[in-house]
Amino acid sequence: MPETLHAAIPENEDREPFMTENTMPRASGDLPELPAREDLPSVADALREETSFATVVHPELIQEEALVEIERFSLWYGAKRALWDISMAIPKGKVTALIGPSGCGKSTLLRSVNRMNDLIDTVRIDGDMRLDGESIYGRNVDVIELRKRMGMVFQKPNPFPMSIFENVVYPLRIEGVKDKKILRSVAERSLRGAALWEEAEPRLRESALGLSGGQQQRLCIARAVAGEPEVLLMDEPCSALDPVATSKIEDLIEELKGDYTILMVTHNMQQAARVSEYTAFMYLGRLVEYGPTDRIFTQPLCSETEDYITGRFG
Ligand SMILES: Nc1ncnc2c1ncn2[C@@H]1O[C@H](COP(=O)(O)OP(=O)(O)OP(=O)(O)O)[C@@H](O)[C@H]1O
Ligand SMILES: [Mg+2]
Repeated sequence: MPETLHAAIPENEDREPFMTENTMPRASGDLPELPAREDLPSVADALREETSFATVVHPELIQEEALVEIERFSLWYGAKRALWDISMAIPKGKVTALIGPSGCGKSTLLRSVNRMNDLIDTVRIDGDMRLDGESIYGRNVDVIELRKRMGMVFQKPNPFPMSIFENVVYPLRIEGVKDKKILRSVAERSLRGAALWEEAEPRLRESALGLSGGQQQRLCIARAVAGEPEVLLMDEPCSALDPVATSKIEDLIEELKGDYTILMVTHNMQQAARVSEYTAFMYLGRLVEYGPTDRIFTQPLCSETEDYITGRFG
């Protein structure tokens, strides 16, 4: 069995934490062979025994440079464990989709990346994450500074009750930027980047609450990018939108990738297939399989992934 598929290493052995270096190890020469399905660890065993599951990671990922590294990360809400020992390296400048049935922990994992779960009293965590090599959960981390490096877009657009202009420049206002020229140019650049400039320009001083749902979501993306984050975290950004607005957001994601590292939760598998380069399949708090999107959707290694993408469960 190929050694690089750490997936194959049984849980109780002292396995190396996944990708401890800033960048993922580079493959030399050909990619390792894929294991046979019957050689993979069993998700059903992990669930029955209430243990974590050593994720099946496709070898293509070892050629990528990681920007966010999640390392043996677990999370409990009170006594209930929502994430089981998750390790995952998120490639820089790419779109990574998180998929899986409702309640499997997608939002919990996404919110953990910028420590939004800190706001919930009952939450306890174990493990760590790193952003560009720096610990996210370390003792001396400035959480406000950390969150500035990661823009967040939610399922429901959440424009602030202020003008379109003030919404976009909000990240600069909290930094104390007052220079009108700078504010104006960032607003224009961000709105153009979010494909909203033409619609918004005539009404920059009007309330953002007067925009349509799809426009509000593009505004929220403009606001997220105005702060020039390194990472964009998106939790089902299109689920409240119609197909036209959805397709605009998808085009936008397409344009933003490269400049940004995007981690996106989606319920919509066609969307994951359309916009992401990598897909991670989660199930009951475990990260089951992680690999190039086209492979996950056409040749998944795990039977659970196949059952999910073919609609047999979830
Ligand atoms: N604030 C909370 N307090 C207690 N339990 C929570 C909390 N938030 C989530 N959970 C539980 O943690 C588990 C994972 O929830 P999460 O919202 O991360 O799932 P999800 O995959 O995003 O689901 P969905 O697709 O429905 O959005 C679920 O069992 C959920 O009930
Ligand atoms: Mg969710």
